Amino acid sequence: APTVAQEDFLSLKDYSTEEILDLLNLAIELKKPENKHLPLLKGKVLGMIFEKSSTRTRVSFEAGMLQLGGHAMFLSSQDTQLGRGETIADTARVLSGYLDGLMIRTFHQSAVEELAKFSSIPVINGLTDDYHPCQVLADLMTLIEHFGELKGRKLAYIGDGNNMANSLMIGAAKVGLDIAIAAPKGYEPQAEMVELAQVIAKDSGSVVTVTHDPVEAVKNSDAIYTDVWASMGQEAEAIKRLNDFEGFQVNAELVQHAKADYIFMHCLPAHREEEVTTDILEGPHSVIFQEAENRLHAQKAVLVTLIGD
Ligand code: CP
Ligand code: NVA
Repeated sequence: APTVAQEDFLSLKDYSTEEILDLLNLAIELKKPENKHLPLLKGKVLGMIFEKSSTRTRVSFEAGMLQLGGHAMFLSSQDTQLGRGETIADTARVLSGYLDGLMIRTFHQSAVEELAKFSSIPVINGLTDDYHPCQVLADLMTLIEHFGELKGRKLAYIGDGNNMANSLMIGAAKVGLDIAIAAPKGYEPQAEMVELAQVIAKDSGSVVTVTHDPVEAVKNSDAIYTDVWASMGQEAEAIKRLNDFEGFQVNAELVQHAKADYIFMHCLPAHREEEVTTDILEGPHSVIFQEAENRLHAQKAVLVTLIGD
């Protein structure tokens, strides 16, 4: 397993390019069928705190820990004392006495940072309102499987300037992949996130741009990525967003501006006929289920690196 300077996995911004590439190489190794059950985490226990719903994250972490010889424990915040007001700081110190690692999916990035601060065991970010680094690791892995070297390739992200947009910008900037975000006015990623990605991109030579024009973003791209228009926690805005995102659907017309061998990506879950049409989602360019599978392999690499002996 690669050695990393960080004890936790909270955002890709904390990881060097080399550390990210090492994690990706390990993920590709662990994906080989003969390596599926290496007992690298024998007897280790991962706690998984969920304050939001999940299919992929929960099941891939749980399956991954089992395949590595360890165990994972689903901790819904509703059913723990967290839901009754016990603090994150107390929870962190208690759970550190039982477990070897913690994964958390929650709203505020500050809650994940608080958990990491008070835990003596590694903490993994399983999605916040700001970031989704596990997903982006799986996405970079998928891109490598398709294109090999990522330098000089272009990813177009069409839609909401949300956690996926933020993490994709940072991940792309780290590995030298160009990224163009197209979002409606008022839904761009936060300026500080764009600046951060642009600073990181200076080192790798990648180009990070934000536009309001989906065609401009998709032009000459190798991959087109989209995500839901209303994320978890934004259910009340869903109707308004349907209107505000008009013109930002990934459909047969838009993808014509990409390279002929482009791939279509989505973190899932998807809303068919909203951010993407069914023909694109189910079409020959779509790699959505490969991405979903790669969550397992990418997270096994993170787990082995952070909590392996
Ligand atoms: N992509 C993703 O994180 O999916 P889940 O919400 O199902 O975990
Ligand atoms: N942006 C979405 C991603 C889900 C994996 C959300 O936060 O709900």
